[in-house]
Amino acid sequence: MAIRVLGTGSYLPPKVVTNEDIAAALDTSDEWIYSHTGIHARHVAEDGETTSTMAAKAARSALEMAGVKPEEIGLIVLATSTPDYATFPSTACVVQSLLGCENAGAFDLQAACAGFIYALEQARGFVNFYPDKKALVIGAECLTRILDWTDRSSCILFGDGAGAVVLGNDDAPGVASTKTTAHTILGADGKGQGFIMRTGGTREALPLDPVTGIPLKPDPISPKLTLQGHDVFAFAVRKLSKVVGDLCERLGTTPDALDRVFAHQANGRIIEATARRMKLPIEKFWLNLETTANTSAASVPISLDQAVRAGELKDGMKIVMVGFGSGLTYGGTFCHWPFL
Ligand code: UT7
Repeated sequence: MAIRVLGTGSYLPPKVVTNEDIAAALDTSDEWIYSHTGIHARHVAEDGETTSTMAAKAARSALEMAGVKPEEIGLIVLATSTPDYATFPSTACVVQSLLGCENAGAFDLQAACAGFIYALEQARGFVNFYPDKKALVIGAECLTRILDWTDRSSCILFGDGAGAVVLGNDDAPGVASTKTTAHTILGADGKGQGFIMRTGGTREALPLDPVTGIPLKPDPISPKLTLQGHDVFAFAVRKLSKVVGDLCERLGTTPDALDRVFAHQANGRIIEATARRMKLPIEKFWLNLETTANTSAASVPISLDQAVRAGELKDGMKIVMVGFGSGLTYGGTFCHWPFL
């Protein structure tokens, strides 16, 4: 049995907001933002676009590349921190309906910017367990709707978009005996729960007066994302290099043997510091945040799709996908592309 990525897809909304656009409304500049983050612009969902519509577009593109029909999908795992609805129904169910994946189970997964790595592992387990089924793994975000656009240290970092992969078994002759190649690390450190937050859950809404149902505390109005940038930066560099190093060690290899690293695109300086720490040339890291900014759970699958469509991922390449995010969460997957 050989679980493989059968197709990839991504979607970025056409509307682009540049650093200059933000600087027209806020005390910042393209020079500051680019030199501190590597970001020049970000895509922003327009009216009518939501996490589910972007996810469905990325997924359709992945299905098309895979040559897989919607009804062949047995599971949809959608990683997001910006679901269409505050809690339920899941965005994955909305996408299931938009795509017509009538034979699929569907659920959302919340592991923030590491969400795609977590989701991939859930889907890999599913296909491993049900070898005749295929899975759709999506990372999709509409982050620009939850930003505090008056906070120059956070609103400049994020953008919207979606990426998707289709997983299935490759039964082609010569492949059937191939062992699964992926090795994954998933981790969390809840002590850092305050570093990146969007409040507004039941923790704030409760308690209600049990008789009248009137909240004893007012609901916070449209809670926005908050960020302790320095703390996240330090955590990110430490964990990205540790996860990649540990994955390589498990496989009896070293990071310099890797062909490509698809790291979560949070900040170009985080990726540069990780590359330095690991003594890896920066060219091994896929970089697109100059034009996409941080798309959280969507960032790794968008990068992957861009690399595939640019012909930069060849069969057998040793790659690592690695991410970190609110929670705090982190995770990485090593594979011989396209086999998981
Ligand atoms: O995916 C996970 C989420 N991603 C992250 O959490 C990102 C991780 N952190 C970072 O990327 C960086 O910490 C930031 C880009 C957020 C901040 O960069 P920094 O180099 O750590 O800046 P800083 O927070 O140390 O701020 C330095 C100065 C401050 O001014 P004072 O107090 O020294 O006068 C800030 O007010 O830069 C100021 N500043 C800005 N100035 C112009 C912060 N944001 C801006 C801005 N434009 N946009």
